[in-house]
Amino acid sequence: MKWIDIAEIDEFPSNTSKAVTVEGTKIAVFNLKGEFYAIEDACTHDYKTLTGGAIDGDQVICPWHGARFHIKTGEALSAPAYDPVATFTTRVENGMVQVAWIDE
Ligand code: FES
Repeated sequence: MKWIDIAEIDEFPSNTSKAVTVEGTKIAVFNLKGEFYAIEDACTHDYKTLTGGAIDGDQVICPWHGARFHIKTGEALSAPAYDPVATFTTRVENGMVQVAWIDE
């Protein structure tokens, strides 16, 4: 397992998201009022990116067809997506937001 740097905490405003690709997997990282969460950046409806979608509380709205996902759990909350997205562990280390990546 290794930690992937996402952004300095000072450069990651609240209620925004950032995208990173790790070994071909797209990950969306969200700052929800100072708490950081990461989900796979691939909507389970049509596998388009979720980053850039509106953040509504602890939900993100897919910018393509409007499916909602729970940012903390990855759960799909509304059509046209029904399957959850994967979640990843995050941490803040020395002012850097990081995501855990498990090598296979
Ligand atoms: S790609 Fe997300 S709702 Fe269709």
